[in-house]
Order: sequence, then structure tokens, then C-alpha cells
Amino acid sequence: MNGKETVLSGIRATGNLHLGNYFGALSKFVRMQRDYDCLYFVADLHALTTNPDPDQLHRNVRSIVAEYLAAGLDPEESTLFVQSDVPEISEMYLLLNMHVGIGELMRTASFKDKARKQLGIKVDETDEDNIERQIIGSASNKRVNAGLLTYPTLMAVDILIQKAHKVPVGKDQEQHLELTRRFARRFNSFYGVELFPEPANFDFGGKPVKVPGLDGSGKMGKSEGNCIYLIDDEKTLRKKVMRAVTDEGPKTPNQPVSPTVENLFTLLELTSTPEVVKHFRDAYADCSIRYGDLKKQLADDILAITLPIRERILDLQGDDATIGRVLRRGAEIARERASRTLAEVREVMGIRRFY
Ligand code: TRP
Repeated sequence: MNGKETVLSGIRATGNLHLGNYFGALSKFVRMQRDYDCLYFVADLHALTTNPDPDQLHRNVRSIVAEYLAAGLDPEESTLFVQSDVPEISEMYLLLNMHVGIGELMRTASFKDKARKQLGIKVDETDEDNIERQIIGSASNKRVNAGLLTYPTLMAVDILIQKAHKVPVGKDQEQHLELTRRFARRFNSFYGVELFPEPANFDFGGKPVKVPGLDGSGKMGKSEGNCIYLIDDEKTLRKKVMRAVTDEGPKTPNQPVSPTVENLFTLLELTSTPEVVKHFRDAYADCSIRYGDLKKQLADDILAITLPIRERILDLQGDDATIGRVLRRGAEIARERASRTLAEVREVMGIRRFY
């Protein structure tokens, strides 16, 4: 288009965005806007793979769009759209599936996890590689829907239909991206064309951010119930931070920091200044630290980031006109690009009209 590389990424419409989404994805999306030709979307079709309540799904799409805008995605600079507003994606999903093996889909880690969950199989009851047998042999009335199996095809189409070069996603999506590259290569070589570029993950060169939860466990995640949401009000947010799990405190100078307390330091490093971080690190080292002070500081620094975003989300809540305008424009641009790729794909595959 304008000589800039194309960046594309999306977030599944399954609930409000939290600090993990913000540092892991959104803040990167915002930074890439000027340097790349960016498309960001809400993956509502992907959300269907877990059979959500229809009204809730619709509300979730809306809230993610509001959160995109509130966090700084600028519709003048980036294309913001909803996946289902681009029906070309659904058509190409059917076409690409003809070149995707059910075996490779079944071996995808995310599929195995979700399929086991849906069938009620605990991982430790079973040996890793029997998922195929378990699904086929399952006599129960539980089922794993085919959409879940073909989730990676749909994601590959999201990326390939826009001919994206860079796809900023977290580590958990790396395998899906690898499949996307494989499908692109396979398609190109099967038909002897150079239709799809192979998309790369985007890496800012810094260390990857893993945003920890507040419960002393690993990652912040919706299903973990340890989240700080961008939409949290001040009182809720302070309460969550003050209740974060710690330990009994350092007893001897320079003792190693426990994983739970290290989580708080990690959050502080993400949200505060190096001086503040150093102050609390030093206080830990000489055993003078009070976790209450650390948490208060952390809450203040998180609020400095999230409260302005929250204000903008609330402003957009009653503003369907803005949301509608942004999404209509975004859908036009995304469809125009997608339909060009789809036309090429159809032609290459021999799906050609007689009229
Ligand atoms: N699977 C991604 C997730 O769960 C969401 C997604 C769907 C996506 N399609 C995409 C991300 C295309 C990047 C590009 O986070």
C-alpha cells in the first residue's frame, strides 16, 4: 500500500481486558501504529468455539472495541474491525481447510487442552498422545465441536487474507502462528504461487513480558480469577492489590525473593519508575520493606495507567454512534483487502465463475 509492512492481530471476544492483555498485547498494538500498516480486530467467530451466550458475546465484542479505542488505538491510523464483518474470512476458511490435516490440528496443544476440558478428561488420567482415541472413543454425550478443531485454520485465514507480515501475539499463540506459516508455504507450493508471505511474530527486542497474577500463581488470566481489569474502579483495584498474596517478609539481608513477592516486583517494574523499583528492592534487601507500602505504591502506579483508560471506556459506553462509525469504516477497509486476496485464492484453486 504505502510501502509499510502489514501488522495484524486480534483478541478473542471472551470478556473484559486485563493488565495482562494491556502489557502483552494492547500497548504493543498502540506502539506499532505509526510505523506499520496496522489492522486490529475482535475475533468473535473464534469466541463461538466455546459456545458463549449470544447476548454476552455481542456485549463482549462491543467492550473490546471500546477498550481498543480507550487504550489508544486510533481509527485514523489503524484499521479496527470485527472478524464477522468480513465474510470473506469465512469463505476462505472453507477453502483453506481443504489443505489442512485433521491430524496436525488434533496435535495442537490448545486443541488438546480445550478438547480434554470439554470431555471432562483430566490430563494426569491419561497419556499425552491419546487425545484422538479419547475423542473418537468417547461414548459420553459430551462432544468436541469441529470449530474448535479448525480454530488454527480460521486464525491462519485472519492473517493470510490480509497478507500480514507481522503478528504481535503472546507465547501461547506461537504454535498457531507456526501452523499459519506452514499452511502458507503449503498453499504456495501446492499451487506454485507466491500468494502468501510467511508471517512472523513481532518481537520488540526486549524481554518478553509475562504479567503475573495477584494470587501468587503464574500468569494473569481471565480463567484464573487473579486479574486487574482496565475497567476496574479505584476502590475495586486498590482492594485487589492490597489483598495480593505475599509472604512473611525477609528475615536476613539479601535473601532471595520468593516467587509471590517477585510477582509484585514484576508488576511494579511494568508500571513504575526505575527509582521506585530500586527503592523497594533496596528495602527488601535490608529487611526494612513493608509490603503494605509496596502495595500502596503499586496500586497508585497501576491506577495512573488504568484510570484514564477507564474514563475513556465509560465515555464510549453510551456512544454507539462512535463505535458504529469506527467499525463500519474498519470493515470497509478490511473487506476491500480481504476480497482481493479471496479472489486470488479462488482463481488459483479453480473456483471460477461462468458469468
Ligand atoms: N487466537 C488468538 C488468541 O486467542 C486470537 C486471534 C484470532 C488472533 N485470530 C488471530 C491473533 C489472528 C492474531 C492474529 O489470543
